[in-house]
Amino acid sequence: MNNSTANRSTSESPSTTTASNTNTAPDLLSERVLVLDFGSQYAQLIARRIREQNVYCEIVRHDISAETIRARKPAAIVFSGGPSSVYEANAPKCDPNIFHLGIPVLGICYGMQLASQALGGRVEPCNRREFGRARLQVKSMEKLFAGFPHEIDVWMSHGDQVRDLANDFETLASTPTCPHAAVRHKTLPIYGLQFHPEVSHTSLGSTLIHNFLYNIAHCEGRWHLSDFANRSIEHIRDVVGSDRVICGLSGGVDSSVTAALLYKAIGPQLTCILIDNGLLRKDEQGAVISEFTNHFQADLRVVNASDRFLGDLAGIKDPQEKRRRIGHAFIDCFKAEAEKINGAKYLAQGTLYPDVIESGAALDGPAATIKLHHNVGGLPEQLGFELIEPLRDLFKDEVRKLGVELGLPEHLVWRHPFPGPGLAVRCLGEVTKDKLDILREADEIVVSEIKNANLYRQTSQAFVVLLESQSVGVMGDARTYERAVAVRCVNTDDFMTADWSHLPYDLLAKISTRIINEVRGVNRVCYDISSKPPATIEWE
Ligand code: XMP
Repeated sequence: MNNSTANRSTSESPSTTTASNTNTAPDLLSERVLVLDFGSQYAQLIARRIREQNVYCEIVRHDISAETIRARKPAAIVFSGGPSSVYEANAPKCDPNIFHLGIPVLGICYGMQLASQALGGRVEPCNRREFGRARLQVKSMEKLFAGFPHEIDVWMSHGDQVRDLANDFETLASTPTCPHAAVRHKTLPIYGLQFHPEVSHTSLGSTLIHNFLYNIAHCEGRWHLSDFANRSIEHIRDVVGSDRVICGLSGGVDSSVTAALLYKAIGPQLTCILIDNGLLRKDEQGAVISEFTNHFQADLRVVNASDRFLGDLAGIKDPQEKRRRIGHAFIDCFKAEAEKINGAKYLAQGTLYPDVIESGAALDGPAATIKLHHNVGGLPEQLGFELIEPLRDLFKDEVRKLGVELGLPEHLVWRHPFPGPGLAVRCLGEVTKDKLDILREADEIVVSEIKNANLYRQTSQAFVVLLESQSVGVMGDARTYERAVAVRCVNTDDFMTADWSHLPYDLLAKISTRIINEVRGVNRVCYDISSKPPATIEWE
């Protein structure tokens, strides 16, 4: 339940709910930027970079109408990059009236090409696809490049570029292979960048975004997480009134921050439910209880349901079937517990903005139906609750900052995500108590060694997978025929793509030695060096 980037539901399929939704206090979102998504892998990154500049930002469909945009009164519009070529027949386009709304527009890569073409320029394929670092020469230091040196490194990733600029445009910067690497319209507030200011390889990329927001769009910077916390607390109080709220707690950052926010807002009207499904990590139940009771006096109900879950999983090897059964068991247990709580009207969930984007809800506009594709999928519908999702406008890094703001301890706020189906998806094949015990011991060694090496914060996720196969080994003078485990450590920003962590060899050696010496039944340790894609982070 704690992982907001879940892309494999623990329930059978995403379900659509019409349950009402309690979001962020509206006044906090009064200054906003809209990012039109043309299919870019970086759209979320652009939005995060804008929020880092204290300006609220939303991702919307590229074909949003100019009228809808006008009604939402954004301070600025950003066109993302995208994989298409603007001259192709089915290339994604935008409503051309957007250019005449008087709202500042920044086109990035494909977005720049689209704006340039729409206003009279010509876009053509480059002689050679340009990918990687390039040296940018800045010609005009005004507004967008205010305070910049004459040359900086920028990150390029494009196969097309603007060949002929329309007369109404002028070039602000170029590279040896890209004559119009930054442009602006002479009379309309329209700017374009062929390179990517949102990626960290572009030096001063954040300054560029800052300059666009503050020098060109005249933003005031109203998006602050401390205000968010205070305004959300007031907003939750207004919505909930004297009713009760229940909140599933897993010990992960999203559900913990949700619970903390609710507790600050409504104190004793909150009941949290922790379901121990027998698939948690070593000592996790105790840790969640003590963390929770140290920080709040809220009502916490712990349901020990491991027999039920392990019973349902007995004999099941298929990963999807495992997930399906876990999802059903979870709903049953939660339902049984929730029915014991008198007067509960609301169910709180730690849904984050990336979940909303992935489910398509964000792209259809602010009031679109919400799909529950993760967490306790289907629960509100089945239980007749109304939903409270106080984090649904936030990115993960913002949730972490909010957690700190609310006084949660750093180690909780920085915990690695843990999937809803828990260790079941790391125990390949049938899930049994014996196998889970092996996994828990090995997992604890990996995490504690990574913490000892001070690499926990630099690593996005670190865990162990228990393989189905056994392998031959030799211990002392005796032959062994025991289990093999894989250690999986990844670095990622968004969990959609990930690289395997390049951990130091001596750390890997220590992990391997400790697992083989200390975990009975394991005689071989492998290190997973697959990136995502093509592999996924979890093995099932
Ligand atoms: P994959 O394996 O798809 O995982 O690369 C991406 C991220 O999602 C987590 N994950 C889940 N989280 N329910 C969750 O709450 C799930 O069913 C689930 N499956 C994967 C995974 O741990 C990683 O952080």
